[in-house]
Amino acid sequence: MLSLEKIKRRLESAGQSHILQFWPELCEDERDAFLRELSQLDLDGLRAHCEAAALAAASPDQASVDQHIEPVPKEDIGSVRKSDKRSLEEWENEGLLQISKNGVGVLLLAGGQGTRLGVKYPKGMFDVGLPSSKTLYQIQAERIHKIQELANKKHGSNCTVPWYIMTSEFTLAPTEKFFKENNYFGLEPSNMLMFEQRMIPAVTFDGKVILQGKGKIAMAPDGNGGLYQALVDNNVLQDMEKRGVEYLHVYCVDNILVKMADPVFIGFCVSKGADCGAKVVEKAYPAEPVGVVCRLQGVTQVVEYSEIQPETAQLRGPGGELLYSQGNICNHFFTRAFLQDVAQKFQGQLKQHVALKKVPFVDTCGNPVKPTKPNGIKMEKFVFDVFPFSRSFVAFEVVREDEFSPLKNAEGAAGDTPTTARRSLLALHCRWATGAGATLLDQHGNVLPPTASQPAGDNPPAQCEISPLVSYFGEGLEQLLKGRTLQTPFILDEEGAKELSAH
Ligand code: UD1
Repeated sequence: MLSLEKIKRRLESAGQSHILQFWPELCEDERDAFLRELSQLDLDGLRAHCEAAALAAASPDQASVDQHIEPVPKEDIGSVRKSDKRSLEEWENEGLLQISKNGVGVLLLAGGQGTRLGVKYPKGMFDVGLPSSKTLYQIQAERIHKIQELANKKHGSNCTVPWYIMTSEFTLAPTEKFFKENNYFGLEPSNMLMFEQRMIPAVTFDGKVILQGKGKIAMAPDGNGGLYQALVDNNVLQDMEKRGVEYLHVYCVDNILVKMADPVFIGFCVSKGADCGAKVVEKAYPAEPVGVVCRLQGVTQVVEYSEIQPETAQLRGPGGELLYSQGNICNHFFTRAFLQDVAQKFQGQLKQHVALKKVPFVDTCGNPVKPTKPNGIKMEKFVFDVFPFSRSFVAFEVVREDEFSPLKNAEGAAGDTPTTARRSLLALHCRWATGAGATLLDQHGNVLPPTASQPAGDNPPAQCEISPLVSYFGEGLEQLLKGRTLQTPFILDEEGAKELSAH
């Protein structure tokens, strides 16, 4: 820990002396905690950080994005819908082979604060109200179990898909506690590596670090692109190398349909010799809050929804389709070699994005203030900003109803809520069950029409939930469900599957 004198001098030279303005009022414990926090700050980089934030907020470069943007030609994008069965099978086999050889890991981005959802705990601990009451974390853990099992079955292996979890100061402790309390959902704790991304101070429009309390700076995680620094800080790439993990599937916490280590996607990227890849879905409507895969000055990358002009997002092609329709679903593929390159050569070049936020602060008299309009700048890096450094980037379009239903907002919002997430999963499982030859009955014993598997509208799907421990992407259900009539609510878990296969 640095001494007060040292910190004082360095804050002065960074033009940030106001940070210690309430020092005389702090008690011993508060002083200790504050000194510890300040010692961890990058004091040498503080002046540059504050100046860059103020400058970027004053001169947004949004227009330039829209001037240089071009769509990616459709033929350059892989697609589940447009591929024949054989190719899909080949990719799946390739993916399962890599998984069976311990060559694949998954990395969860879970450092976000989940502000829009508005819960005080990490989003992964959220229960969207499924019949089983499973949380997002549990669903993901069970999908890891299952994909390991599928690869083992096919290749007679005993493989591990290590789970790397990037957290932040806000989410690490509760996430660790939650997994521990739940016995890591049966996964081996030594194959789960939780680590923290860095935090950076929020800054006022005139370049001053914001004090959230008299002895506390307003800090925020450095964006999901903080991943690359965090990989270095926490020796994650070494861990991957030690385990022989060559491919990493990186994904965000809130998509209830996420396919962990999806063998089709992994296999597609590996067969194409890609060092970097992204799953996309067709955008649902022009203003949907998803980034778009596009080209900027000839280089394929993602432009975030917050940085594209609404007029550009609305542009349509000759057939009436959206010109920028490749919605990023935050499911990325990276080779370890590419990540190593990023860590060694490109890290420092990652763009800083500016977000203007309402940051609670203490005024010059020390009174806490909750601003009603944005007063602070948060600088964030984006995980997809490494795509321009790729030598062989691929995009892969998947089917939205099968793969994308994010939980972003609290109940009552127009979309991406607990209800929409729950319904998407149940609808998918209804389709799996009926596709496997089952008939579903409602509470009164009436046969449910096929619309029971529609996720949206006033017509909620039937309560049919299939545990990821039983089926990963709908496989293996015919032998259990064909010709059966199932009373909903219906949960198919491992126990139930055993019983069904015995009768
Ligand atoms: C993100 C994507 C967007 C995509 C959308 C799909 C980015 C920058 N944006 O947007 O292009 O269309 O998801 O749902 O990837 N996180 C961290 N650390 C942070 C900030 C966020 O780990 O400092 C994690 C979150 O926990 C979450 C993920 O990154 O798992 C995405 O963050 P979120 O804020 O939800 O991104 P969106 O704005 O929805």
